[in-house]
Amino acid sequence: MMSRFRHLISIEELSKGDVEYILSKADEFEDIAKKSFSDILKGKLLGNLFFEPSTRTRMSFETAMKRLGGEVINLNTAEISSIAKGETLADTIRVVSGYVDTIVIRHPKEGSAKLAAEFSEVPVINGGDGAGQHPTQTLLDLYTIWKEGDINDIRIALVGDLKYSRTVHSLIKALSLFNAEIYLVSPEALRLPIQFREELGNNVVEVDSLEDIIGEINVIYVTRIQKERFPDLDEYHRVAGSYRITRKMLENGEENLIVMHPLPRVDEISPEVDATAHAMYFKQAFYGVPVRMAILSEVMGYG
Ligand code: CP
Repeated sequence: MMSRFRHLISIEELSKGDVEYILSKADEFEDIAKKSFSDILKGKLLGNLFFEPSTRTRMSFETAMKRLGGEVINLNTAEISSIAKGETLADTIRVVSGYVDTIVIRHPKEGSAKLAAEFSEVPVINGGDGAGQHPTQTLLDLYTIWKEGDINDIRIALVGDLKYSRTVHSLIKALSLFNAEIYLVSPEALRLPIQFREELGNNVVEVDSLEDIIGEINVIYVTRIQKERFPDLDEYHRVAGSYRITRKMLENGEENLIVMHPLPRVDEISPEVDATAHAMYFKQAFYGVPVRMAILSEVMGYG
């Protein structure tokens, strides 16, 4: 069967129809994701190439592949692979794409997934490239919003590190497909880069405080301060701990207000929020499995 897309490097490559298709396929896969198996991808091999730490992206891709009957090989840490001997990313990709049917890559450099796709014989999925994009996270974020309410015309607050968070950079573009009203809440030093604000026009408003709009929104999407992206650690220490979602703040929100976070969390959501009906971040992490099943089966022609 023809795939709707060969690689998945950036969320703009997908039309609204593509996104809706992936969400409905993920819904079909959800029962298998909840501890069952199928043989849709039997005989297929996924290569996980992670050059940066990951728990959810790496493990949920591996879970998704195995629950669909496929196999996975992982690049060992860069220190004990031939990257330590000076091998380029292009050469690594040329070689690994001869071994596997699809590659997932996470890399600290923006643009690395795009470069990988240029040298690969097989589909490449971007599992996060520096402060660039994280399109599979965006699809699971959209799936979470879709499953837990309505994805159209939502009012969403993006809170935290809007400068370096690749999950925000991907999500904000996808939200515009669904006519979202977007509120940006961040410390001055972590504001959304100007090019994103210009692209999004009137659907985006910067506000000083979450408390000012909490009664008007359906979703709060919180991000960690991306310490690893700061060129100067003193700058990080100036903003560390400058925002935190508490149970008390949520008392003024709508009953159906959901709090999302791509995780990992550091201190930006108080653990007391976990026990409230608003907390959606652990379920959101689970949704990574059916969504990545839908993506893998699509790029491998079984969508
Ligand atoms: N959300 C996310 O990308 O998590 P990991 O860094 O653990 O993969």
